[in-house]
Amino acid sequence: MEKRTNFSSKLGIVLASAGSAVGLGNVWRFPTEVGEGGGAAFILVYILCVVLLGLPLMVAEFIIGRHTHKNTADAYRQLAPRSGWIAQGYIGVFTSWFILCYYSVVAGWTLKYLVEALSGGLGSISDSAAYFKAFSGATWEPLAYMAIVMLMCHLVIIRGVQAGIERSSKLMMPLLLMIIAVLLVFSFSMPGSREGLTFLLKPDLSKLTSSVILSAMGQAFFSLSIAMGCLCTYASYFTDDARLVKTAGSVALIDTVVAVMAGFIMFPAVFSVEAVTPDAGPGLVFITLPHVFRIAFGSVPLVGWFFAVMFYLLLLLAALTSMVSIHEPPTAFLIEHFRLSRPVATTIVTAVCLAVGTLCCLSFGALADCRPLFGLTFFDFFDFVSAKIFLPLGGMIISLFVGWRLDRKIIVGQLTNAGTIRIPAWAVSAFVFLLRWFIPLAMGGIFVKELGII
Ligand code: TRP
Repeated sequence: MEKRTNFSSKLGIVLASAGSAVGLGNVWRFPTEVGEGGGAAFILVYILCVVLLGLPLMVAEFIIGRHTHKNTADAYRQLAPRSGWIAQGYIGVFTSWFILCYYSVVAGWTLKYLVEALSGGLGSISDSAAYFKAFSGATWEPLAYMAIVMLMCHLVIIRGVQAGIERSSKLMMPLLLMIIAVLLVFSFSMPGSREGLTFLLKPDLSKLTSSVILSAMGQAFFSLSIAMGCLCTYASYFTDDARLVKTAGSVALIDTVVAVMAGFIMFPAVFSVEAVTPDAGPGLVFITLPHVFRIAFGSVPLVGWFFAVMFYLLLLLAALTSMVSIHEPPTAFLIEHFRLSRPVATTIVTAVCLAVGTLCCLSFGALADCRPLFGLTFFDFFDFVSAKIFLPLGGMIISLFVGWRLDRKIIVGQLTNAGTIRIPAWAVSAFVFLLRWFIPLAMGGIFVKELGII
């Protein structure tokens, strides 16, 4: 079994964790939710969710990971031997594994669109909705793209923590931030940018219903990569001098800024073309925007080409760094729990993801009518079970665990780096209070909503 290594620098720690957080969730899900949820009012609620729920949970996961320096399953086993809490460790490992199976399908689509953007093919698509349907419903092409992105992720993970995860994050994250800056300038210089911004920012308090507030919470958890073992596993590679609260703050800040900027990039562009109502979810990125790019191609080809290439590159980078972080929890588990070598463990995780991912990928075509579980396609099933059930459930268990069960000395020791940083006692109490009461109740609300009980 390989020897455990840590990330080599604080910058590496922040960039890798931010890489996990910044993903498809920021670029396609957030802007649509803002539009639907009342613009600036939603953004405010979202930021509150990040600060009051997301941050404490992220720190809680960091505490578990760094204190134990173990994979998620064994971390809970060490902290609460022979108790039901161990289940949470396994939930983390296996839910990550599930998420990767369907996340890689969508990541594959982004690669396909990047290739089409590069070759100029996007400029000649006349009906982008029909095009997307035909592509995602085909058999071999989406499978091939999914396999390629899985392979990219595999090649990063197989190199290990420093040479793989850390090095790739240090390369991809700055590139991603640079692309965002370029795209922002571009988008703001478009003729219709003002209407786009109005759509995004108009505070419409009437839309702030309880269901929108719950969506804001759900979005905050997904976007910050909470409750699936990713952050806990990464934290197990944190060095002892890393400041947990500060790191969590930086990650949450980067994640939120990227999400808001993604909205600033997309909506002005969409509105500059015509007042199309942006599609939700995949539609926005794979149908509405290709349409926008085609029109831009038509007027100034080079501008359209450049915008499209940069945009899909941004999406691919965001997806890849998140995929890497979802691949690592099951890989670390196999390495440490079954004493496998990293190449063998990585290969097992990748192979299972490819097999299950194939079912998810074909859910849009050949297997669209195959719905053995709860009447859902494989893709929807994996999405539902992991993001809608285990994500809120996991969040609730983690906050209860750290709030009620974990020794306060461990919490204080981790927050203060064994007494070397001063943290006021009231801040620790507030942190524990949020974990004990506030977050479990909020998570319970999301859970009930996601299951459609209210
Ligand atoms: N946060 C990522 C995004 O915004 C997705 C992600 C990565 C994730 N790891 C996770 C979501 C763990 C939930 C749990 O796309």
